[in-house]
Amino acid sequence: MACQWRAMEDLYQDGLIKAIGVSNFEQPQLEKLLASAKVLPVVDQIETHPYFQQGTMHALLHDLNIRHEAWGPLGQGKSDVLTNPVLAEIAQAHHKSTAQVILRWHLQRGEIVIPKSIHQDRIEQNIDVFDFALTAADMAKIAGLDKNQRGSADPQDNAWLEKSTTMA
Ligand SMILES: NC(=O)c1ccc[n+]([C@@H]2O[C@H](COP(=O)([O-])OP(=O)(O)OC[C@H]3O[C@@H](n4cnc5c(N)ncnc54)[C@H](OP(=O)(O)O)[C@@H]3O)[C@@H](O)[C@H]2O)c1
Repeated sequence: MACQWRAMEDLYQDGLIKAIGVSNFEQPQLEKLLASAKVLPVVDQIETHPYFQQGTMHALLHDLNIRHEAWGPLGQGKSDVLTNPVLAEIAQAHHKSTAQVILRWHLQRGEIVIPKSIHQDRIEQNIDVFDFALTAADMAKIAGLDKNQRGSADPQDNAWLEKSTTMA
């Protein structure tokens, strides 16, 4: 990890790239990196959605002044989050879709979101989230949906990591 980060720092310090960041770093990896980094990461991209809210990492990144970027912000279509009745009720009250409510929730938590869709109408819908605001009560209801349920493998699972990064 150290030499990859040094290479990124060199590119940054040579003015060839504007910012450097990490993905799927949790506290141990961040602590190791920050102990020797000359340039701090501006962003950490981690799985985050209403069923996996990443409360501890969210607070840690805030304290470290590293932006929390949510990958799989809509749950990657791997759960029923997009049809969750609590989210559907909030969506109906704001005349928005459930996806828009989820994206707005991320934004109001101060996160960067990178939803993916192959459909034009959904891409347009996913950016149309700046004309309404969730109330404190809405935010609290969504906070209550957390199941600490990952949609994908745990990036700190060394066996999975070795398998997924080793060429067959
Ligand atoms: N750093 C990492 O380890 C990591 C891992 C995974 C993903 N990512 C990144 O995260 C980003 C997004 O993640 P993702 O695609 O995995 O998950 P996602 O954005 O949470 O979910 C995408 C799924 O939601 C559907 N969808 C999108 N907008 C919708 C809407 N308005 N209404 C209903 N369904 C909607 C999409 O279907 P349709 O396409 O059919 O509309 C697709 O099935 C990508 O840029 C990806 O590269 C990063």
